[in-house]
Amino acid sequence: MKNAIIIGAGSTIASCVIDKLAAKDFNIYLLARDSEALLEKQQDLNVKYPNANIFIQAFDVLANSMDQITEKINICFDTLGTVEVVLIAYGTLPNQKLCENDLKEESSALRINGVSVLEICHHVANKLQLQKSGTLAVITSVAGLRGRQSNYIYGAAKSMVNIYLQGLRNRVNQYGVQVLTVMPGFVDTKMTAEFKKGLLWAKPGKVADDIVNAIFKKKDIIYTPWFWRYIMLIIKSIPESIFKKMKL
Ligand SMILES: NC(=O)c1ccc[n+]([C@@H]2O[C@H](COP(=O)([O-])OP(=O)(O)OC[C@H]3O[C@@H](n4cnc5c(N)ncnc54)[C@H](OP(=O)(O)O)[C@@H]3O)[C@@H](O)[C@H]2O)c1
Repeated sequence: MKNAIIIGAGSTIASCVIDKLAAKDFNIYLLARDSEALLEKQQDLNVKYPNANIFIQAFDVLANSMDQITEKINICFDTLGTVEVVLIAYGTLPNQKLCENDLKEESSALRINGVSVLEICHHVANKLQLQKSGTLAVITSVAGLRGRQSNYIYGAAKSMVNIYLQGLRNRVNQYGVQVLTVMPGFVDTKMTAEFKKGLLWAKPGKVADDIVNAIFKKKDIIYTPWFWRYIMLIIKSIPESIFKKMKL
């Protein structure tokens, strides 16, 4: 049996990844904010995948202190033993306008989507380094590749995570630890429920497929769906003198 920890298990994308890992007989520790939904997910998985052992703990990255969070992660490792996969999937899409006018909102958005993720990566990477194995997969975003007026606070947090993961990968590669940066484009999830969907939108199941494949293929960075690599190449190549005048 293999073991996985999903941090932010209530995420629509993570939920699809969890099903795919449970179908492969992974034992899985789920950490999520909504205790009721967590219990329902555990019961559902127990029925669908009786070979997989599913454990749960409530976790809120704002309400819990970092000491409490590291303790929760320690419990996961102590329960499971050697852990093959840790996925960090929680996040929020901040209200950009609100953040621009309220520093507390902005700080909170940066804490959820950026700083707290780095702190959790710090702890998990050290555990995996001790094991000398395992994959740390983190969902960031293509939004972290270029700052735009409509969502640069979210983008800045995701960019911080991207750079941290680059350095971490460089550090722990020698210990046999894989660090996977997952950069989705637009995905149809709870987070984007209010948005009008178009051609560029992906289903969470497709993104989850890409994540699971990348874990097993030991990839470093993925864009999901794949075409975002090329869209972002174009967006990144626009000179700043032109980009600053665009309404993006
Ligand atoms: N959807 C997209 O278009 C898109 C694009 C690029 C990147 N991403 C990234 O993909 C990841 C997964 O998001 P998703 O699309 O699956 O959205 P989602 O379904 O809304 O999932 C986000 C999860 O984060 C959890 N969360 C929010 N605040 C939290 C907190 N303070 N403590 C603990 N958990 C908290 C939410 O908990 P509750 O269930 O309790 O609300 C929710 O389960 C995120 O990192 C997101 O930034 C998404």
